[in-house]
Amino acid sequence: MTIKLGNEEDKKWILDTYPYTSQVLYEGGILIVAVDDEKKIKGFSWAFRRNIPILTEYIEDFINVIEVFDKSERCKGIGSLLIQKHIEIARENGCYQVRAYCDVGNIASHKLWLKNKFTISPIKNEQDQVLGSYAAYKI
Ligand SMILES: CC(C)(COP(=O)(O)OP(=O)(O)OC[C@H]1O[C@@H](n2cnc3c(N)ncnc32)[C@H](O)[C@@H]1OP(=O)(O)O)[C@@H](O)C(=O)NCCC(=O)NCCS
Repeated sequence: MTIKLGNEEDKKWILDTYPYTSQVLYEGGILIVAVDDEKKIKGFSWAFRRNIPILTEYIEDFINVIEVFDKSERCKGIGSLLIQKHIEIARENGCYQVRAYCDVGNIASHKLWLKNKFTISPIKNEQDQVLGSYAAYKI
Protein backbone atom coordinates (compact mmCIF):
# COMPACT_ATOMS: atom_id res chain seq x y z
CA MET A 1 0.00 0.00 0.00
CA THR A 2 1.32 3.41 -0.93
CA ILE A 3 0.24 6.52 0.98
CA LYS A 4 0.54 9.75 -0.97
CA LEU A 5 -0.94 13.17 -1.56
CA GLY A 6 -3.96 12.91 -3.81
CA ASN A 7 -4.49 15.13 -6.85
CA GLU A 8 -7.62 16.53 -8.50
CA GLU A 9 -8.00 13.37 -10.59
CA ASP A 10 -7.97 11.24 -7.44
CA LYS A 11 -10.54 13.53 -5.82
CA LYS A 12 -12.81 13.30 -8.86
CA TRP A 13 -12.53 9.49 -8.85
CA ILE A 14 -13.49 9.31 -5.18
CA LEU A 15 -16.45 11.70 -5.64
CA ASP A 16 -17.68 9.86 -8.75
CA THR A 17 -17.26 6.37 -7.29
CA TYR A 18 -18.56 7.18 -3.80
CA PRO A 19 -20.96 10.14 -4.29
CA TYR A 20 -21.77 10.37 -0.56
CA THR A 21 -18.25 11.64 0.01
CA SER A 22 -19.34 15.01 -1.44
CA GLN A 23 -20.83 15.72 2.00
CA VAL A 24 -17.38 15.80 3.60
CA LEU A 25 -14.86 16.24 0.77
CA TYR A 26 -14.65 19.74 -0.62
CA GLU A 27 -12.47 21.86 -2.87
CA GLY A 28 -8.88 22.47 -1.90
CA GLY A 29 -7.66 21.02 1.37
CA ILE A 30 -5.27 18.15 1.88
CA LEU A 31 -6.23 14.87 0.23
CA ILE A 32 -4.29 11.73 1.17
CA VAL A 33 -4.90 8.48 -0.68
CA ALA A 34 -3.92 4.88 -0.01
CA VAL A 35 -3.31 3.09 -3.31
CA ASP A 36 -2.57 -0.57 -3.92
CA ASP A 37 -0.04 -2.11 -6.31
CA GLU A 38 -2.52 -1.71 -9.18
CA LYS A 39 -2.82 2.01 -8.35
CA LYS A 40 -6.39 1.58 -7.15
CA ILE A 41 -7.49 3.90 -4.35
CA LYS A 42 -8.41 1.76 -1.33
CA GLY A 43 -8.92 4.55 1.19
CA PHE A 44 -8.51 8.25 1.66
CA SER A 45 -8.64 11.10 4.11
CA TRP A 46 -9.18 14.79 3.62
CA ALA A 47 -8.35 17.68 5.90
CA PHE A 48 -8.78 21.43 5.76
CA ARG A 49 -6.35 23.91 7.25
CA ARG A 50 -7.50 26.85 9.31
CA ASN A 51 -6.54 29.30 11.97
CA ILE A 52 -7.52 27.95 15.36
CA PRO A 53 -10.60 29.91 16.42
CA ILE A 54 -9.64 32.28 19.32
CA LEU A 55 -5.88 31.62 19.04
CA THR A 56 -5.83 32.71 15.44
CA GLU A 57 -2.06 33.00 15.20
CA TYR A 58 -1.91 29.18 15.34
CA ILE A 59 -3.07 26.87 12.57
CA GLU A 60 -4.50 23.37 12.61
CA ASP A 61 -5.32 20.67 10.11
CA PHE A 62 -8.80 19.28 10.72
CA ILE A 63 -9.37 15.81 9.27
CA ASN A 64 -12.93 16.00 8.00
CA VAL A 65 -13.15 12.46 6.66
CA ILE A 66 -11.15 9.25 6.74
CA GLU A 67 -12.33 6.03 5.17
CA VAL A 68 -11.06 2.64 4.05
CA PHE A 69 -13.69 1.72 1.48
CA ASP A 70 -13.73 -2.07 1.57
CA LYS A 71 -14.59 -3.54 4.97
CA SER A 72 -12.25 -6.45 4.29
CA GLU A 73 -9.36 -3.99 4.03
CA ARG A 74 -9.99 -2.42 7.44
CA CYS A 75 -8.05 -3.18 10.62
CA LYS A 76 -4.87 -3.64 8.58
CA GLY A 77 -3.30 -0.33 9.50
CA ILE A 78 -4.33 1.71 6.44
CA GLY A 79 -6.27 4.26 8.51
CA SER A 80 -3.25 4.77 10.73
CA LEU A 81 -0.96 5.28 7.75
CA LEU A 82 -3.30 7.99 6.45
CA ILE A 83 -3.28 9.74 9.82
CA GLN A 84 0.50 9.54 10.12
CA LYS A 85 0.79 11.24 6.73
CA HIS A 86 -1.45 14.08 7.95
CA ILE A 87 0.72 14.49 11.02
CA GLU A 88 3.85 14.59 8.85
CA ILE A 89 2.35 17.25 6.53
CA ALA A 90 1.02 19.30 9.46
CA ARG A 91 4.47 19.24 11.07
CA GLU A 92 6.17 20.34 7.83
CA ASN A 93 3.72 23.24 7.58
CA GLY A 94 4.09 24.56 11.10
CA CYS A 95 0.66 23.48 12.33
CA TYR A 96 0.07 23.44 16.07
CA GLN A 97 -2.25 20.42 16.01
CA VAL A 98 -4.23 17.94 13.97
CA ARG A 99 -7.86 17.40 14.95
CA ALA A 100 -10.89 15.37 13.99
CA TYR A 101 -14.41 14.67 15.15
CA CYS A 102 -15.87 11.21 15.68
CA ASP A 103 -19.45 10.18 16.27
CA VAL A 104 -20.45 8.68 19.58
CA GLY A 105 -21.21 5.20 18.23
CA ASN A 106 -18.14 4.92 16.05
CA ILE A 107 -15.91 2.63 18.08
CA ALA A 108 -13.59 1.90 15.14
CA SER A 109 -12.97 5.60 14.71
CA HIS A 110 -12.34 6.19 18.43
CA LYS A 111 -9.92 3.25 18.46
CA LEU A 112 -8.16 4.60 15.42
CA TRP A 113 -7.46 7.96 17.06
CA LEU A 114 -6.40 6.32 20.32
CA LYS A 115 -4.02 4.02 18.48
CA ASN A 116 -2.41 7.08 16.89
CA LYS A 117 -1.98 8.86 20.23
CA PHE A 118 -4.70 11.46 19.82
CA THR A 119 -6.48 12.76 22.91
CA ILE A 120 -10.21 12.05 23.05
CA SER A 121 -12.52 14.80 24.36
CA PRO A 122 -16.17 13.73 24.53
CA ILE A 123 -18.73 16.45 23.83
CA LYS A 124 -21.95 16.60 25.88
CA ASN A 125 -25.15 18.48 25.21
CA GLU A 126 -27.19 20.34 27.83
CA GLN A 127 -28.96 17.09 28.75
CA ASP A 128 -25.58 15.56 29.59
CA GLN A 129 -25.72 13.16 26.64
CA VAL A 130 -22.46 12.39 24.88
CA LEU A 131 -22.73 13.33 21.20
CA GLY A 132 -19.27 12.44 20.00
CA SER A 133 -15.65 13.32 20.59
CA TYR A 134 -13.00 15.62 19.34
CA ALA A 135 -9.68 13.90 18.77
CA ALA A 136 -6.54 16.02 18.87
CA TYR A 137 -2.82 15.48 18.30
CA LYS A 138 -0.33 18.13 19.40
CA ILE A 139 2.50 18.33 16.88
C1 LIG B 1 -12.22 4.27 10.92
C2 LIG B 1 -11.43 3.56 9.78
C3 LIG B 1 -10.97 4.63 8.78
C4 LIG B 1 -10.20 2.88 10.41
O1 LIG B 1 -9.36 2.42 9.35
P1 LIG B 1 -8.44 1.10 9.57
O2 LIG B 1 -7.60 0.93 8.37
O3 LIG B 1 -9.29 -0.03 9.98
O4 LIG B 1 -7.55 1.59 10.81
P2 LIG B 1 -6.36 0.81 11.55
O5 LIG B 1 -6.29 -0.58 11.03
O6 LIG B 1 -5.14 1.66 11.44
O7 LIG B 1 -6.79 0.84 13.09
C5 LIG B 1 -8.11 0.58 13.49
C6 LIG B 1 -8.11 0.18 14.94
O8 LIG B 1 -9.46 0.13 15.42
C7 LIG B 1 -9.76 -1.17 15.89
N1 LIG B 1 -11.15 -1.45 15.54
C8 LIG B 1 -11.72 -1.38 14.34
N2 LIG B 1 -13.04 -1.70 14.42
C9 LIG B 1 -13.28 -1.93 15.73
C10 LIG B 1 -14.44 -2.30 16.46
N3 LIG B 1 -15.61 -2.46 15.86
N4 LIG B 1 -14.31 -2.46 17.81
C11 LIG B 1 -13.14 -2.30 18.43
N5 LIG B 1 -11.98 -1.94 17.77
C12 LIG B 1 -12.07 -1.77 16.44
C13 LIG B 1 -8.81 -2.07 15.16
O9 LIG B 1 -8.66 -3.30 15.83
C14 LIG B 1 -7.56 -1.23 15.12
O10 LIG B 1 -6.84 -1.23 16.33
P3 LIG B 1 -5.63 -2.29 16.60
O11 LIG B 1 -4.70 -2.21 15.43
O12 LIG B 1 -5.04 -1.81 17.88
O13 LIG B 1 -6.28 -3.63 16.68
C15 LIG B 1 -12.28 2.46 9.09
O14 LIG B 1 -12.84 1.62 10.08
C16 LIG B 1 -13.40 3.02 8.25
O15 LIG B 1 -13.20 3.33 7.08
N6 LIG B 1 -14.61 3.16 8.82
C17 LIG B 1 -15.73 3.74 8.10
C18 LIG B 1 -15.59 5.25 7.95
C19 LIG B 1 -15.47 5.95 9.30
O16 LIG B 1 -16.17 5.63 10.24
N7 LIG B 1 -14.55 6.92 9.36
C20 LIG B 1 -14.26 7.66 10.58
C21 LIG B 1 -15.05 8.91 10.65
S1 LIG B 1 -14.28 10.00 11.85
